[in-house]
Parts: sequence; structure tokens; C-alpha cells
Amino acid sequence: MSEPFDLVIRGGTAVLPWGEEATDIGVRRGQIAALGVPAGAPAAAVVQARGLHVLPGLIDPHVHLRDPGDAAVESIATGTRAAVLGGITSVFDMPNTTPPITNAERLAAKQAHAERVAWCDVGLYVGATKENVADLAALETGRAVCAIKVFAGSSTGDLLVEDDASLERVMRAGRRRIAYHSEDEYRLRARRGMFKAGEPYARHAEWRDEECAFLGTRRILALARETARPAHILHVSTAEELDYLKDFRDIATVEVLVNHLTQMAPDAYERLGSYAVMNPPIRGRRHFEAAWAAVRDGTVDTLGSDHAPHPRAAKEKRWPDCAAGLTGVQTLVPVMLDHVNAGRLSLTRLVDLLCAGPARVYGVVGKGRLAAGYDADFTLVALRRRRVIEESWIASPCGWTPFAGMRVTGWPVATIVRGTVVMREDEVLGEPGGRLVRFG
Ligand code: DOR
Ligand code: ZN
Repeated sequence: MSEPFDLVIRGGTAVLPWGEEATDIGVRRGQIAALGVPAGAPAAAVVQARGLHVLPGLIDPHVHLRDPGDAAVESIATGTRAAVLGGITSVFDMPNTTPPITNAERLAAKQAHAERVAWCDVGLYVGATKENVADLAALETGRAVCAIKVFAGSSTGDLLVEDDASLERVMRAGRRRIAYHSEDEYRLRARRGMFKAGEPYARHAEWRDEECAFLGTRRILALARETARPAHILHVSTAEELDYLKDFRDIATVEVLVNHLTQMAPDAYERLGSYAVMNPPIRGRRHFEAAWAAVRDGTVDTLGSDHAPHPRAAKEKRWPDCAAGLTGVQTLVPVMLDHVNAGRLSLTRLVDLLCAGPARVYGVVGKGRLAAGYDADFTLVALRRRRVIEESWIASPCGWTPFAGMRVTGWPVATIVRGTVVMREDEVLGEPGGRLVRFG
């Protein structure tokens, strides 16, 4: 008789790489052992998934968990707890912490800390600076490192590599794909004086206008091609960039954000005020529609929340002193399932953006696919469940979401990380068991 399964997921509709199939999934030692499990096969535990879709564990490749930094706002412990409540099984965490993750010592401390406190699996970005270029080749091969992150335009924190000569030096150090915050720093600086403090929050999108983003991306792509160094352009926010990027598929991959697919100027600024302020900004309808077209035609490789919590007091300052960034790791899945139900993308494409996409772009080992031998990470969703997103549900200590009050159809009802059920029906279960994601 065959060895018993540790866990069997029974009766769900599995979203496999080759399509949806009603199939049971068997797990042993944290990995998928079988697709298709005979009735009566021995199993230590069974998760009933009748009426549910069983997705490969969804990956949010773009979060800012503020650890080290301000645990009253967010930490790896609280941010990964929010992630599993929202149906996310892995997060890739940004380096613009206090202090930033820019050397081997801080990276080692963060690796060890994440292994102690995380609820889901964690990948880590390392920040490039003008001073650490010589160390980047070694840093990018570190445990759990998903990519080097370059802020080519300034945002939250001090990380910045803005000039072409320094960008080229970073690109020539190391080989893996680099992730870019792409806004042209010189144009940001030149335009800042055109606006007065205290003007409406919608000015944010005029200051950091389309050309800031497009110019930043043109410069990065030219250098990437010249140095033959693969680039991942994070949070692409303009129609012009998305069009331009189609001619750079040899060297560049593309991320868009949930916020840019869900909110639009001017309405977002009128409704949310500073709770719509982020970098790059939420823009008008033309860009919103271009982002959806790029999701549909395959230009987009990955989808992120850009989860960037800040204290309410910092958000509520006048423009432009207000902090830029919005919470989102916990709301990513419900908001995107609502888009699926509205017919804006298929469930298969959503899984492609949140599993196969990050696996391909970052070189994830053993995740992103429901297939034998892969990690037993699953997100179980009730596709037709209706629910209102409420701030009382938000686990991040900062306590707010720009999606408060949104009625959605589609909800994550269970999160399973390497065979352990860590969330079921809004309840976090057991102890933090997150591990570091491996990259090839
Ligand atoms: O809006 C943003 N917030 N954009 C970024 O690039 C950084 C992030 C943060 O860390 O707050
Ligand atoms: Zn970000």
C-alpha cells in the first residue's frame, strides 16, 4: 500500500498550468505528491474544497513590510499575517526599511528574523546604492534574494541611483534581473517647484506626471539593452510605457499594480484624499484602460500590491508632506477576484500573473505551479462569495485600507503554506512557519 498523504484537498476545482480540472490533490512533506487521489487513499488530514477553486499559492512580489523600522505600522510578523488572511502564500519584501537592506550584515539579520516570525514564505530585495555597487554581485546570490531593487527616482526612504553612469555601473555588477522604481529623478526635482504646499492631493499626479515615468523607463531600457542586463519595470503606470515596453521583450518584464487597475484620477483623489497618494501616482482613465489592455494582451508579467503602510498621521499631512504609499497585501486577492467576476480578466490569467509570472521573472524555485514536486502552497477561493472589505478586517497595525467599503464578489477562504493550513475563514491558525523562498 502506498504511503499515506499528510493532507488531501478534496472536491475542489484546481487551476492547473494546463487549465481547470476537478481533481483532488495529495500532499506529502510539504510538497505536492499527487494530482488525482483515489477515493479512500489514507490521509492524515483532509481539507474539503467542494465549491471552491484551488489555486497555486498566490505570490505578492511587491510589499514594503517596514521591518526593521516601525513595528507600530507594520512588521514581517504582522505583514505576513495580513498576507495569509488575504490568501497570499509568499511575499517579496522591499529593502527601503530603516535602515535599508544594502549590505550582507543587514541581509543576514533580515533572513534570520523572517525565518523566526513570518506566517508565509518570504523573498527579499536588496537595495542598490552608489556605494554598494562592488557588493551587489555577491548580494544578489544571497539566500532568499529575489532581486536587486533600484530606486531610479526617489520615493519613501533614501535609496536612490538616479544618474545614467551610476545606473550603468549597477547593471554591470551581477547578472540577475534588476527590479526598478522608474521615475526620472531630474524631472521630479524640476517640477516640484511648480506646485505649492497644501494644494489638492490630485496635484501628486501632475507633479509626478506621465513623462517622469516614461522618461525614467526609456533611460533604463536603453541602458539595459546596452549592458544586456535584464530589467523588471515595477508598477508601470502609463499608456506610453506599456506601448514602448512591447519592443523590449528581449530584455524587460513588466509589473502593474492592483491600485492602478482599480482606482482612477480624479475620482480616487476626490474620494480618498491623501489615501490615494502613492508613487508612481494613480492616473486618469487613459492609463487605467491601457493597464487593462496590457493585462489582456500579455504585456504584463506580474501583478503586485505595492503594500506600503504608513501611520494615519503621516498620511493625513498636507500635500506633498503626506506619506506616499497604500496598504494592499491583504486586499489584493479579494479586489482581483472581483475583477475576475466583472469579466475584466480570467481566473487563469490572474493565476498566471500571481504565480507563473513571478516564478518566471524572479526565478523562483519550486513554487508557482500546481504540479507534482512543487511546494504545497494553495489559495482556496470562493469565487461567488460576496463581501464588503472592512477596516476591522485589516491586520496591519496601521489599520486602514483604501478599499474600505468596497463590495466585492470573490473571497480567499483558506491559505495553505507547504502543506500547513495557516488561514481558514478569516482565522489564522497555528504558529508562524514561514520560510525563505529559494531562487535559481
Ligand atoms: O507609494 C510608494 N510607497 N511608492 C514607493 O515607491 C515606495 C512606497 C513606500 O515604501 O512607502
Ligand atoms: Zn513599492
